[in-house]
Amino acid sequence: MIKPDAVANGHIGAILNDIIAGGFKIVAMKYIQLNEETAGNFYGVHRERPFYGELVRFMTSGPIVAAILEKENAVEDFRTLIGATDPSKAVEGTIRNKYAKSIDANAVHGSDSDENAAIEGNFFFSMFERF
Ligand code: CMP
Repeated sequence: MIKPDAVANGHIGAILNDIIAGGFKIVAMKYIQLNEETAGNFYGVHRERPFYGELVRFMTSGPIVAAILEKENAVEDFRTLIGATDPSKAVEGTIRNKYAKSIDANAVHGSDSDENAAIEGNFFFSMFERF
């Protein structure tokens, strides 16, 4: 996902460029706004965490870009491309280093495992929306 902060700050194009230059194929993509229910479903694993309320508030604050990306070793390579969750710790040149402002407004989300990538892809996309 490209998160509401990066969308609002005009970084959709630059982030997609970095993703494509990083060797990822875009299999599916859409521009939508989450609501409390859909954001709560997506981030259900974090429901008990202290930052959950702010996470849902932020993720529903504006539109996001959801995408399924394909590449050999995609989960790990995407996490390298985007950098640490906290942008102040993200390596120079990574997407969060360049475009993120805070741990909440951290520009992008990446799946943390192949299993979660499948769950999160199914959350946003039907089989007819994948190429
Ligand atoms: P994301 O990869 O979308 O997954 C959960 C999000 O919660 C994370 O990125 C951060 O934007 C947000 N978050 C806020 N505070 C924290 C925290 N202390 N640890 C991890 N994630 C946090």
